[in-house]
Amino acid sequence: MTKLSRREFVAGTSSAAAGLLSASASCAGPPSRSETEEPVDAGASRPARPVVVSTWKHGIEANAAAWRVLVAGGRALDAVEQGVRVTELNPKISTVGVGGNPDASGVVTLDACIMDEFGDCGSVACLREIANPISVARKVMENTPHVMLVGDGALEFALEQGFPRTNLLTPESEARWRKWKAADTKKRLEINVENHDTIGMVALDSAGNLSGACTTSGAAYKLPGRVGDSPIIGAGLYVDNDVGAACATGWGEAVIRAVGCHLVVEFMRQGQLPEDACRLAVERVIAKNPDYREIQVGFLALDKSGRHGAYCIQKGFNYAALDDDHENVLIDGEHAI
Ligand code: GLY
Repeated sequence: MTKLSRREFVAGTSSAAAGLLSASASCAGPPSRSETEEPVDAGASRPARPVVVSTWKHGIEANAAAWRVLVAGGRALDAVEQGVRVTELNPKISTVGVGGNPDASGVVTLDACIMDEFGDCGSVACLREIANPISVARKVMENTPHVMLVGDGALEFALEQGFPRTNLLTPESEARWRKWKAADTKKRLEINVENHDTIGMVALDSAGNLSGACTTSGAAYKLPGRVGDSPIIGAGLYVDNDVGAACATGWGEAVIRAVGCHLVVEFMRQGQLPEDACRLAVERVIAKNPDYREIQVGFLALDKSGRHGAYCIQKGFNYAALDDDHENVLIDGEHAI
């Protein structure tokens, strides 16, 4: 697929641009950025030591898939995509991909984004009927001049790119939604759903390059059209290959207000260790959200040296970490209250 530059896209009529967007991969066209530039080989100046970290216990199986890419000398970008695809395809996980909780009208809509070592990024939001939104986000990054596609446009693009339509609502997620819908308002508040267990993953590869991915079905029974932090570059995910990478989980509205992951990376740029950077970002979230005692927000960060850490508002957030020295382990995030 030819990647259109912004100038080429703007110069064409929209239908011409759409035609070019659906052109076959064999079309000749200008090389994409990743074909013309070498990734930063930070490994030349220090030992290459891949590491992958991801949010929550479902990060364990996601890390294992990412690790297979990293130990083969693969790119962190491929590792994070392959890693979170596992979570997206697991119908037992009620907060991501297939089997994710639907919106209030019973429709499952997914949000995802991905970011690489060049600062290139792609994102989809409010995407229906596609099992692997993270891979659609990568196609947005690589095959369009845009960063973000939403709703019907994102679905049309995914279908054009060859992604199959999939029923994301499983019998279990439909039954949970019907129970919620039948309940009165008070009872609805009491229904305890796993709500914001987004998977965010950040990785460092053997060339010393960082990438990240984030994917979710968002808040359970959200208003139709609601989009959280997960597909918003800078909020749910941010990567700066000179400094570090961060991803977020929890109540997306609070993360967006603080532009959380960009903030974490900026704190690392100022010299903070990953856990301290996450703590300072959580403190900012707390300062900006008077209802912070009723919500959870957690940040997970990995720096350019492979050090990682997390911090959250409430007790209970954990993350999975995997590198050469350690088993795939679950680590409890430090918490503010
Ligand atoms: N952090 C996921 C969401 O709020 O949608």
